[in-house]
Amino acid sequence: MNVLVVDDEQKNAELVAAELRDAGFTASHVSGGAAAIQRLEAGGVDAVVTDLRMKPPDGMAVLVEVRRRWPETTVVVMTAFAGLATAREALKLGAQDYVEKEGDYVEVIARVLRDAAEKRELLQSNRALAASVESLRRDALAVIGDAPATRAALELLRKVAATDSTVLLRGESGTGKDLFARTLHALSKRAGGAWVKVNCGALPEALLESELFGHEKGAFTGAVRQKPGRFEDANGGTLFLDEIGEMPLPLQAKLLQAIEEKTFTRVGGNRPITVDTRIIAATNRRLEDMVKERSFREDLFFRLNVFPIVLPPLRDRPGDVPRLVDHVLRRHGAPPDKLTADARRALDSYTFPGNVRELEHTIERALILAGADAITPAQLSFAQPEARREHGWVPRIPPEGLSLEALEKELILQALERASGNKSAAARLLGLTRRTLYSRMEKHGLRTPGEGEDAEGEGE
Ligand SMILES: Nc1ncnc2c1ncn2[C@@H]1O[C@H](COP(=O)(O)OP(=O)(O)OP(=O)(O)O)[C@@H](O)[C@H]1O
Ligand SMILES: [Mg+2]
Repeated sequence: MNVLVVDDEQKNAELVAAELRDAGFTASHVSGGAAAIQRLEAGGVDAVVTDLRMKPPDGMAVLVEVRRRWPETTVVVMTAFAGLATAREALKLGAQDYVEKEGDYVEVIARVLRDAAEKRELLQSNRALAASVESLRRDALAVIGDAPATRAALELLRKVAATDSTVLLRGESGTGKDLFARTLHALSKRAGGAWVKVNCGALPEALLESELFGHEKGAFTGAVRQKPGRFEDANGGTLFLDEIGEMPLPLQAKLLQAIEEKTFTRVGGNRPITVDTRIIAATNRRLEDMVKERSFREDLFFRLNVFPIVLPPLRDRPGDVPRLVDHVLRRHGAPPDKLTADARRALDSYTFPGNVRELEHTIERALILAGADAITPAQLSFAQPEARREHGWVPRIPPEGLSLEALEKELILQALERASGNKSAAARLLGLTRRTLYSRMEKHGLRTPGEGEDAEGEGE
């Protein structure tokens, strides 16, 4: 801490500065208020210790000037003529403290300065923390979606983020379990701590055990050094156990104990290791069924399922598809009109069995195929066209309901558009005969009866 001592009695200023240096501060001194302001203007002063009674500008004037121009700088006032009124006045004007010049008063000043330095550090680290939390919160907005089901999941996430509770993220593949897990950590008070992810399905049992819990030297062939596990790496932070359904049964018992007691031993060791690690687990498997089949421990399931968050599949999130589409386009620096209206419609009516991941991949592929042009429906290769044909595509009825007539008309128009006006091809797209298509077109006013029936020369 860089301290400036101000006193118009040069000797005293020197003395106080010297004692403060002995106490471990960086201290310099000036004689009088005017010199003090000059020195402050040069910058780098963290604290001012000033005498009160000086010829103008006096200590009070210095105090007022410092508060006004350098609000971060601490001011301590000292005087030989103590008076409660003056002391009160100085404190009111923002002095850190008021010290009488008697006895070992420089020691008192040193203590006041040390307290001030501590407060300052705390304030600064709080500010840094607030700033990093703020930036993490902004990142958290990377979760796109406004559908009621998405909002509900996000609301749960926000509530549980503030706690240390174990969270189980459930949902189909590609629904955002990974993204939600990271967001949960970022929103929690552990955001400044480690974020560690382990995919429980990626390693065979023995390796997974040492990955999670670490091992001692010589625990197995190849264990040439002691190695802490991911539970320890995540101490003070969050451990994300992805694909928890793949965790081998024998390891599940050790995991349960580690979660419940926050204590475990490394492989080949017997020293209990205690950690403060928050667990988030994720799975797309039906753990209840696995419990019934005895491939997942019931007690572990209950322990993990304390706070489940189920991420809805994309098909249950009306309105989220266009938002996500725009989000992906933006991320690739493409404008919203990169998609033709037809392509947008096609995306909007597809059910995305692979959820958000499939949506991302579909658009990324299309961006490559389209190059500099706009994306057409033909460039959207949906992952499961076969399955769609097999099961038939079923539109979801929006909350506000829909008009079957209008939908039929729209589908006929789309079929005609896609078939470039070829009625036979359009009829095939709709699973109708050409004659039935004609009559439906007539019903919707898309054709006058008898018009061009034989003139078209198309094969059936
Ligand atoms: N709501 C969302 N907003 C923005 N991006 C999302 C959203 N949900 C998912 N994503 C993105 O979709 C992709 C797949 O999500 P993620 O990896 O989190 O899914 P998952 O549920 O973990 O899937 P899996 O079960 O296959 O591991 C990621 O690129 C992710 O960033
Ligand atoms: Mg995942």
